[in-house]
Amino acid sequence: MTGKAAYYLTTPIYYVNDSPHIGHAYTSLACDVLARFMRLDGHEVFFLTGTDEHGQKVEKSAAAAGRPPKEFVDEVSERFRALTKLMNFSNDDFIRTTEERHIRSCQELWRRIAANKSPKGRDNIYLDTYGGWYSVRDEAFYGEAELVKGADGEKLASSGAPVEWVEEPSYFFRLEDWRERLLEYYALRDGTVVAPESRRNEVESFVKGELFDLSISRTSFSWGIPVPGDDAHIMYVWLDALTNYITATGFPDEDSARYKTFWPASLHMVGKDILRFHTVYWPAFLMAAGLEPPERVFAHGWWTNEGEKISKSLGNVIDPADIVAQFGLDQVRYFLLREVPFGNDGDFSRRAMVGRINSELANDFGNLAQRVLSMMHKNCDAQMPQPGALRDADKVLLSSAEKLIDTVRVEIGENQAFHEALTQIWAVVRQANGYIAEQEPWVLRKTDPERMATVLYVAAECIRHLATICQPFMPDSCATMLDQLGAPQEGRDFTSLGSDGALVPGTGLPKPEPVFPRFVEDAPADG
Ligand code: MSP
Repeated sequence: MTGKAAYYLTTPIYYVNDSPHIGHAYTSLACDVLARFMRLDGHEVFFLTGTDEHGQKVEKSAAAAGRPPKEFVDEVSERFRALTKLMNFSNDDFIRTTEERHIRSCQELWRRIAANKSPKGRDNIYLDTYGGWYSVRDEAFYGEAELVKGADGEKLASSGAPVEWVEEPSYFFRLEDWRERLLEYYALRDGTVVAPESRRNEVESFVKGELFDLSISRTSFSWGIPVPGDDAHIMYVWLDALTNYITATGFPDEDSARYKTFWPASLHMVGKDILRFHTVYWPAFLMAAGLEPPERVFAHGWWTNEGEKISKSLGNVIDPADIVAQFGLDQVRYFLLREVPFGNDGDFSRRAMVGRINSELANDFGNLAQRVLSMMHKNCDAQMPQPGALRDADKVLLSSAEKLIDTVRVEIGENQAFHEALTQIWAVVRQANGYIAEQEPWVLRKTDPERMATVLYVAAECIRHLATICQPFMPDSCATMLDQLGAPQEGRDFTSLGSDGALVPGTGLPKPEPVFPRFVEDAPADG
């Protein structure tokens, strides 16, 4: 996913009536880190999130709350806007599927799909009757073969959600005719369109199997976007929801600057549960409308909580606001992307969180910065010291720091391997700690103050590189660290890496405060 000037990055729009939880925060966090990384690397970025507000599930929740649906969604969508603020997401837009711009876009997309023929020369959309299993919870149709038996012998979707038999007139999308085109699409860009590879295999084998035409309209409820020319039908909520990605670029105004710059999307970041919607239905709809499909879809894994599936009924849903309040925002952002290889499932445990905060943030990175900054503050008149001639050990450390961005660019930009990027960054953090331990600047203070100045300067330059590269993960903490180093505001993007943006000797330094404090458990209350 590299080599372009402008990147369009999206995260799934949240089901508006859900309560924000760690899973929501995770998809968008990964996308936020990618967006921030690309911006710092000199690219134009458009990063989108928002809320998915139509469908039977929302209609039912509004009715249960005794509210008109629009009034209900206006209120609950604010919880997700608040999540973006809480998590410090840098989204450029927040789309709601009940907005006028989206309704216009969906109807136009439908018209184009309907106006075109499938690759087999048939109508892409036709009217018939749907009879089959539907899960309101998943807003998805299920074939008989996909159902499982519940504890009382009742039929359940493979996801465990209840299903009901639905029989009603429906428009269908001729999915089957798009098989070959979809398979060609997966092979593009050396087969990296769907990532990770295991997900690509999963999707490919699904498409090679029996593909049923997809029911894309409903008549038994009304909370949705009317089908153009047939108001008795509303569009299937997933067709409506997926279209948000193109609406936000200005579609159907294809002359708009945003559309021209950003479509097709560079990357849709999604969880593995919604892979099929993004890699089968969505590209097929787009191709049928004569539009370009997204360049890449990355599906990450799922989190469990202390080893258990996260679910409302188990009462173990992790509210991002709670963990941010307990552990700190940047600590949570770091943990979520460091703990689990991106793409795999992972487990959230308090122990693992505290472990990483104390060993990697407080001990490794925090201590490195605090030690160097406080020595400069005390022993160099609170100024960035003037280095003397560099020795081999200095050059080795600086070269590792300077080369780091190239590795990280590949891991984040190309592979979305956030955990791997952090592992590489921490290798340099540890190397810098080793350098300080070897050079012993506290000894040099008495024996060779000039050499001490060089060692502290070299270490500070290394910390500047680390803090600059870590900004996408931990924006606030890294900004504080860069402030403490006296790095100029305008010299914090990746063009400042290397010697071009080197710290300026003589710059005044503020009194340093630890950026990553240790996490100390509250003492149990007496009695
Ligand atoms: N509304 C749809 C998306 C429509 S996009 C056109 C939807 N919304 S969601 O709110 O249920 O999910 C949002 C994101 O949260 C998805 O990427 C989903 O995978 C992710 N997660 C929800 N629970 C999760 C975990 N327990 N773990 C990790 N991520 C999970 O789907």
